[in-house]
Amino acid sequence: MVEYSLLDVPAVESPDDPQWGWVFAAMARLDEAVSNARFGNSDLVEPAQMRFAQFNNQQDDGKVLKLAIPGSGPDLRMAVGYAWADLPLSSNTGKAEFEVVVHPEWTEINVGHRLLVSMEEHLARLGRKELILFTGFGPADDQEPYETSPQGGQQPTSIWNAKLALSHGYELSLVEKMSVLDLPMDTAAYKAMMTDAVVRSAGYRVHSWTGDIPGEWAEKYARLRGKFGVLAPSGMLSWDEDVWDEARVQRHDQAIRDMGRVSFLSIAEEIVSGDLVGFTEISVPLAVPSPVGFQDITMVLPTHQGHRLGRLLKLFNLSRLQMERSDVKRIYTWNAAENAHMLGINIAMGFRPFGGSGNWVKRK
Ligand SMILES: CC(C)(COP(=O)(O)OP(=O)(O)OC[C@H]1O[C@@H](n2cnc3c(N)ncnc32)[C@H](O)[C@@H]1OP(=O)(O)O)[C@@H](O)C(=O)NCCC(=O)NCCS
Repeated sequence: MVEYSLLDVPAVESPDDPQWGWVFAAMARLDEAVSNARFGNSDLVEPAQMRFAQFNNQQDDGKVLKLAIPGSGPDLRMAVGYAWADLPLSSNTGKAEFEVVVHPEWTEINVGHRLLVSMEEHLARLGRKELILFTGFGPADDQEPYETSPQGGQQPTSIWNAKLALSHGYELSLVEKMSVLDLPMDTAAYKAMMTDAVVRSAGYRVHSWTGDIPGEWAEKYARLRGKFGVLAPSGMLSWDEDVWDEARVQRHDQAIRDMGRVSFLSIAEEIVSGDLVGFTEISVPLAVPSPVGFQDITMVLPTHQGHRLGRLLKLFNLSRLQMERSDVKRIYTWNAAENAHMLGINIAMGFRPFGGSGNWVKRK
């Protein structure tokens, strides 16, 4: 009988906290083992500083963190599994998103099951009635048998975390495809796409910067940012508009700095109105050299879609990243399998599939 126990991690003031600081380094080590087994690299591992900064940033999203540790006490300062939940606080307050991660050598033991049950009970006590569970999978896992979402996304079900979701009554809501683009992007493809995008997007201009959003754009950015959840495909879920204002934009910028990262942001302005109608964001570690970046949100307001702004913004932002940060060798992104418009742009840019993640729903 393998012995392990669960810990609830309380609010932690500093990554050097003598009692709890070790948790974030232990999670990073665990993520490394999972990532190497799943992807054959550690590109997606979030370092301890990043984990701590996310956990500590609870003004806009509450966090619940449970750790499975070997033995009966934290003497080894090791984790064999964790469950992490994000709780929206300004809107969508009945929902909680969570993930259960277990060390590859511990997935046969009931650690995942106990973490999930403990997290569900905790979220129920907090009044969260719509639970969204993520189940990541790597390229090698991406094979039959599949569970198919209502819009046709395919989640492989031979992987332990999908079995866990199914055995606890979760329904597959959507599947996010993960893909990776090796840099620099192919020059001929870049030129062809950029020429087309520039011709089709007359009437708009792009602004771009590295780091914090300049004060004069913060309020317009906030208004746009709050709509993302409503506009992006969300499977069986319906999200209310999120509440963003200038202060939240500043907190967002601060959180990125605290994580040891920096954002490359490009926005599209409609020239005639001065309105901000779309943006895209890539984030990379501040430390140089760092080979891996993440392509985060891209969005264009519905009334301005179809003008190639999605392409224009992504290409422009990428060229700035390549100019400033030639150390970044690849960027990863996630898109709903049903998001044909975004996936079409990504495939044309040269992104190739690299696993994904199922989003499962259970209503209590
Ligand atoms: C994905 C998105 C950024 C694309 O922006 P865009 O400026 O319309 O991009 P493009 O003009 O380059 O469009 C690509 C294609 O999709 C089509 N398209 C985009 N949005 C469309 C819509 N709402 N209805 C119909 N067609 C649309 C375009 O007409 C174009 O088709 P074509 O290649 O046949 O001409 C935009 O649709 C969007 O913001 N969606 C909601 C947010 C989201 O899902 N973001 C991605 C997740 S991070």
